Amino acid sequence: MMVFGRLDELYAIGGGTRRGYSPEEDAAHDLAAGWMREAGLEVVIDEAGNLLGRREGARVWTGSHLDSVPNGGKFDGALGVVAAIEAAARLPDAPLAVAAFRAEETGPMGSKRLTELPQAFLELHIEQGPVLERAGEPLGVVTAIAGQARGAVVFEGRADHAGTTPMSAREDALVEAARFVLHVRESVREPAVATVGAIEVEPNAMNVVPARVTVAVDARAPDAAGLDELIAAIGFEPGSRIDPVAMSGPPFDALAELLPDAPRLVSGAGHDAMVLAAAGVPTGMLFVRSLNGGVSHCPEELSSEEDIDLAVDVLTSALARLTAVD
Ligand code: GLV
Ligand code: MN
Ligand code: MN
Repeated sequence: MMVFGRLDELYAIGGGTRRGYSPEEDAAHDLAAGWMREAGLEVVIDEAGNLLGRREGARVWTGSHLDSVPNGGKFDGALGVVAAIEAAARLPDAPLAVAAFRAEETGPMGSKRLTELPQAFLELHIEQGPVLERAGEPLGVVTAIAGQARGAVVFEGRADHAGTTPMSAREDALVEAARFVLHVRESVREPAVATVGAIEVEPNAMNVVPARVTVAVDARAPDAAGLDELIAAIGFEPGSRIDPVAMSGPPFDALAELLPDAPRLVSGAGHDAMVLAAAGVPTGMLFVRSLNGGVSHCPEELSSEEDIDLAVDVLTSALARLTAVD
């Protein structure tokens, strides 16, 4: 299938590392722009660098992102763009647009800077979790996306000699940060989750007592009250926060009607769909089963060709409905 081959082509750019606004993300956008033109879409790029392949009068958008985490998987984001282009090619007269938003993983940055919003948005995405695999179901309908709060916490100590400074005389910023990492973990009450996934140590030298450490906190919860509670329990100041959002309106209804018996899921991962929904755009998300136990944000991320085929069929049918009533 064309979709699988295109995912391979995108993955070959940067070998699974396409950071937002990097030359690798640019190259992925260039490749997708060519595919959009082949599908009969007119390509426009907005001020944030978002790529939009559109037809005259397009008020329904579908798509996702082409950036990745470092050493990420083949499907996260890219699947939603490639599948959207395929659906557009199958609906040559439908007034729709395919979007590839910039820098989803580090923001989302591109979708937050949109100056024009569609009337409806649909995003197809790999589940990135084990629910569908465990249920033996190829597809799932997303009902809501968990809220997330992100921020940096800085620990100040004093640089000193690693060989001559007695243990009692140290102000070691990394030891304080290590206690904090454990505190973050202990602050969580599931279904909320929290992660310290990045850390910067200064001066970051083996023989110097760490003087300053910055840790990145990522906290998420399916409801706003749970997110407030988690932020308070951790005790940090989020630099960014997006509240949980519901999928709704015609895009959600179309998916729900096409897949009446498919599992309903809350997405723990953030998506461009979250930004559009938060901006008031009626939005729906279709999940395709992750294999390998649902691993994601790593090269072992996997979905099957058969499941993706089904997902593209459903996406196409949903878009046909949305653009017909438009
Ligand atoms: C996006 O992949 C996220 O971090 O949820
Ligand atoms: Mn993604
Ligand atoms: Mn991701």
